[in-house]
Amino acid sequence: MYYSVKANSNQSIIKILSKLGSGIDVVSGEELMRALAAKVAPKKIIFEGVGKTKNDLILAIKKGIKQINVESIEELLLINKTAKSLGKIANVGIRINPNIDAKSLKKISTGNKKDKFGIPTTDLNQVVIIAKKSKNINLKGISCHVGSQIFSLSVYEKVFKKIKETARFFINNNINIKNLNLGGGMGFDKTKNKKFQIKGFKKLVDKHFRNLPYEISFEPGRYIVAESGTLIAKIITTKKSGQSNFIILDAGMNIFLRPALYGAHHNIVSIIKRRASINYNVAGPICESSDIFGKNVFLPKQYTGDYVAIQDVGAYGSVMSSNYNSKELAAEILIYKNRFTIIRKRQKIKDLISKDIIPRWLGDFH
Ligand SMILES: Cc1ncc(COP(=O)(O)O)c(C=O)c1O
Repeated sequence: MYYSVKANSNQSIIKILSKLGSGIDVVSGEELMRALAAKVAPKKIIFEGVGKTKNDLILAIKKGIKQINVESIEELLLINKTAKSLGKIANVGIRINPNIDAKSLKKISTGNKKDKFGIPTTDLNQVVIIAKKSKNINLKGISCHVGSQIFSLSVYEKVFKKIKETARFFINNNINIKNLNLGGGMGFDKTKNKKFQIKGFKKLVDKHFRNLPYEISFEPGRYIVAESGTLIAKIITTKKSGQSNFIILDAGMNIFLRPALYGAHHNIVSIIKRRASINYNVAGPICESSDIFGKNVFLPKQYTGDYVAIQDVGAYGSVMSSNYNSKELAAEILIYKNRFTIIRKRQKIKDLISKDIIPRWLGDFH
C-alpha cells in the first residue's frame, strides 16, 4: 500500500503510516518534500499528479524514488530529458485514463476521458514508441485512479480489467511491466450508512490478480485516515433567525471545507451532556452562506463557550483549510491511548499579516 498523503499530510501521520509498513503516494513536489522530511525512504515513495514541474522531477529523480507515474506524453518526454541531464535512469509508470465513470461526485471523479488526469488508452501506441526510444526512462508500471468516495465494486472490476488489458498490451510490445497500481478511492461515509465492502474488494483483487506475476499496490487516502480525525469547535454564539436556531462556531469552511465544497455530511455531537434536545443549524463564522456544517442537527441545549465535535474529518480536512476571512489555521493534536501531542501549532494572525508587503510607492493615505 502507498498511503495517499493528499488526504492528510501532517508529518506525524506520514510517520505513523510508514512505520506500519506503508509506502507513500505524493501528488506534488511539496508533498514529496514533506514525505522526505518525515524520513520516508525514497524507495517507498511514488509520485503522481498532473502538474509536476521540472524542479519536482529533478528532486524525484535525484532522490531515486520508487516510481514516477506519468500523466501525459509531454511529461514522459520531460522525464527522459531531465533524467538524461542528471545522468540517471528514472523508473516510470503510466497512469492511464480508462474512461470509466467512478459513480461518485463529479468533482472527485478523475477517470473520465474529459478529466485532466492520466493518458488516454488511445495514446498508448505513442507511449510505446517514446518509451523504446528514451534511454533514460525505465517503464515498469501501470497505475489507474478513477476517483474518490467509490462504493461500487463493479467500478473497480472495470478498472482492473482495463489495467490487465493495458499490461498485456505493453508486454506484447516488449515492455516489461512489473507493477500494477490499482489506485485509491475506497469510500467512507458514516452519515449515509454506506460501507466500503473491503472483503468483497479483496475477493475481487484475488479473482483478477492472484495468479499473475505482477507486484500489486494501492494508494488509498480517505479510507485510512477519515475516521481518525475530530474537529473540536467552540461556540462563539447562538442566535435565532426566524424559526431557526443557529449555533455559530469558531471553525468554519476555512477549517473544514467538505460540507461547503461537496455538500458532505458529517456527524456533529455535543461535548456536554444535557437533557433537552434542540434542532440547530450549525454554522461557521465565515461570511458565506455556504458556511454551514449541518442543518436540523439535534443537540442538547448549547451555550456560548460550549464545544461541539464534528466527526470523521481526518481525510481532506486540515489539508484543505485556508486563511479565508484572515482566519488562523487550527492546531492539530495527535492522541494515542493516554498520550497527546500538538503536532501542528495554531497559526498566529501576526505571522499571516507579516507576509503582506505594502509597496513604498503606495505612500501614506491621510
Ligand atoms: C492519484 C490519486 N491517488 C490516490 C488518491 C486518494 O484517494 P482517496 O483518498 O479517495 O483514497 C487520490 C485522490 O483523489 C489521487 O488523486
